[in-house]
Amino acid sequence: MTQRLPATLIAGDGIGPEIVDATLAALEALQAPFDWDHQAAGLAGVKAAGDPLPPATLDSIRRTRLALKGPLETPSGGGYRSSNVRLREAFQLYANLRPALTIVPGGRFDNIDLVVVRENLEGLYIGHEHYVQIDDDPHAVAMATGINTRAGSRRLLEFAFQHAVATGRKKVSIVHKANIMKALTGIFLETGLELYERKYKGKFELDTVIIDACAMKLVLNPWQFDMLVTTNLFGDILSDLVAGLVGGLGMAPGANIGADAAIFEAVHGSAPDIAGKGIANPTALLLAAAMMLDHVRLTEKATQLRRALHATLNIDGVRTGDLGGSASTMAFTQALVSRIRNA
Ligand code: NAI
Repeated sequence: MTQRLPATLIAGDGIGPEIVDATLAALEALQAPFDWDHQAAGLAGVKAAGDPLPPATLDSIRRTRLALKGPLETPSGGGYRSSNVRLREAFQLYANLRPALTIVPGGRFDNIDLVVVRENLEGLYIGHEHYVQIDDDPHAVAMATGINTRAGSRRLLEFAFQHAVATGRKKVSIVHKANIMKALTGIFLETGLELYERKYKGKFELDTVIIDACAMKLVLNPWQFDMLVTTNLFGDILSDLVAGLVGGLGMAPGANIGADAAIFEAVHGSAPDIAGKGIANPTALLLAAAMMLDHVRLTEKATQLRRALHATLNIDGVRTGDLGGSASTMAFTQALVSRIRNA
């Protein structure tokens, strides 16, 4: 009998419950052996337990060390701090892995196969921000501190380089802005170059590129890149950019990986503009579930899920609105489940 795997499930906000339901249906059809512990976070956490990251949710992940998560709403400007950022901090999920692979051909760019590895805990995301009042304007000056450490950079770069070797990547590009933020992003660049020379030279080609040039090059000729490894804020922006190369946020999965736990999610947010309409594309979360299956070494089921997605989208031509189709989330899910069952 297959070993059961306890895992935490956070449905999340906005379209979260809709795409999580779709993903659960696919995982059930695959007979994936997860025992789900349902927990709340984000706005749903506030409604259920008065807390965007309730202690019960943290306890659950502490126990399972594995979670699948729908998007969590974060108020802009004021309000509570992002539960996503807090989850990453609580479990030291220092690596954010975001693959971008063309699944639906015929878009603006074909045959994209890129991966962005983003440092997830440091940089300008540490939340050391404040305003300075001048005269009667309390928001006259805004200040933020970024912190990157040699140790934090090294563990992320080590993760990225190991992943590059394990997955046969030919080239890794360190993305930085060390010409301007000489200390903050210089330390990341310097650590990467040193680590490559010491341990990885010859295992893949190493390249360095400045963030602004990288953004332009990705749009002009994305095939020149293979893996991009970068600091927190640049990684956040670049992973949405590469999601755009493969058909948009509806197609982009992400994994947050650390020493104590791994949390799998879609790159996109709660999409409040389409929440409750039954039209969200669940593909990104489904691809995140495939990454989760890979992570627990159920690679055959991961492959089965990716194949069924490919067939549903490209052979059956069942697509949601964001991909130019007209299928509802439910119709797409039904088509996917029958592909899985009839494989
Ligand atoms: P968003 O990613 O939710 O939406 C951007 C655009 O993409 C919208 O037009 C939306 O309808 C569309 N979209 C996103 N996912 C889609 C899907 N699966 N199918 C079809 N269309 C889709 O970004 P936005 O509006 O900036 O953020 C909304 C909320 O989500 C905010 O509170 C933000 O903080 C939160 N957020 C949460 C994330 C997470 O939990 N990992 C990540 C990013 C944002």
